Amino acid sequence: MPQLSKNDVPTLSLFSGGGGLDLGFERAGFKHEGSWEWMAEAAKTLETARPDWTVFGGDAGDVQNVDWRPYRGNVGVIHGGPPCQPFSNAGKRRGALDPRDMWPEFVRSVLTVRPEAFVAENVAALASSKFSDYVDSTILSPLGKFYHIKMVTLQAFEFGVPQVRKRVFFFGFRNKALFKRWSRPEVKFALPGDDSASDSLLTVMGAREALGLPDTGYDAVLPTIRSGLSGPRHTTSILSSVSAQKRFEALEIWPNGVAATREAASAFVAKNGHFRLSVPDVALLQGFPADWRFSGAVYMQLGQIGNSVAPPVAYAVAKSVSQALAK
Ligand SMILES: C[S@@+](CC[C@H](N)C(=O)[O-])C[C@H]1O[C@@H](n2cnc3c(N)ncnc32)[C@H](O)[C@@H]1O
Repeated sequence: MPQLSKNDVPTLSLFSGGGGLDLGFERAGFKHEGSWEWMAEAAKTLETARPDWTVFGGDAGDVQNVDWRPYRGNVGVIHGGPPCQPFSNAGKRRGALDPRDMWPEFVRSVLTVRPEAFVAENVAALASSKFSDYVDSTILSPLGKFYHIKMVTLQAFEFGVPQVRKRVFFFGFRNKALFKRWSRPEVKFALPGDDSASDSLLTVMGAREALGLPDTGYDAVLPTIRSGLSGPRHTTSILSSVSAQKRFEALEIWPNGVAATREAASAFVAKNGHFRLSVPDVALLQGFPADWRFSGAVYMQLGQIGNSVAPPVAYAVAKSVSQALAK
């Protein structure tokens, strides 16, 4: 991810988590005005990574408590990834009936602040037919009165992340001309051996290559890193499904018992001899730079990583918005 020159567009971040979207917007040149995140450990991650940012954590970070009116007229972009548990295939999929559903809060912030543009992200399942009524009534209909909106699904490996990770993004622009000028983030990578891919695309690295592991004759992108905070309590596994288990076995990477550090991981060899991951490895496989350190216990750090928008995807998303907004 390069650092683009500053565009001076003031940006608010809701549900900031460990900062995937925040980092992508920063790298695309946006001006960080504030992050709201109620989980203290995640807020600490942001404060540590960027001591000069304004970060509201704990009760002050609960978006339900925020009066957005003072921000009206002063903000270019609002972005956020409301919690995905109400919609995720890994959960009960209760949508609006789930008390964790915070989409109405995201919508309230946009309708109060009226930024030039907004970006919202969620699990791809939100774009499935099961939630189409929900999406229409809770997101598109209230925001569509003031914004031109496009929903797109993006795949992380197409942006150079060595991982399968599909997420849906909503892009909204108040001004029709700017909306027309916007185009979806440009895909730059394809999977190895994908003969149908355009010649102009680069080949994405496999997980073993990204981790600098020896060549075993097999490499592939990692299965989706699970969002640790939505699984069993305090889990240090990043395994998201049974089919993912097979891929990890073929990769000879052990997805359970992720260690805090690389030193701890190498001192604690997995029973089958496969490579044991550490938090910095998982962060790398999500596309975070090495100097972005996460706070909290291991499961909390993994939760922040697994919940995040992979930063290279966030960067491509933010760049597409910046290009549309450019005068
Ligand atoms: C999917 S994660 C967002 C990840 C983030 N966009 C990133 O790229 O790293 C959702 C976050 O919303 C936070 N959250 C949930 N309810 C909240 C609330 N009412 N106020 C503030 N944050 C909240 C959760 O703690 C979690 O970190």
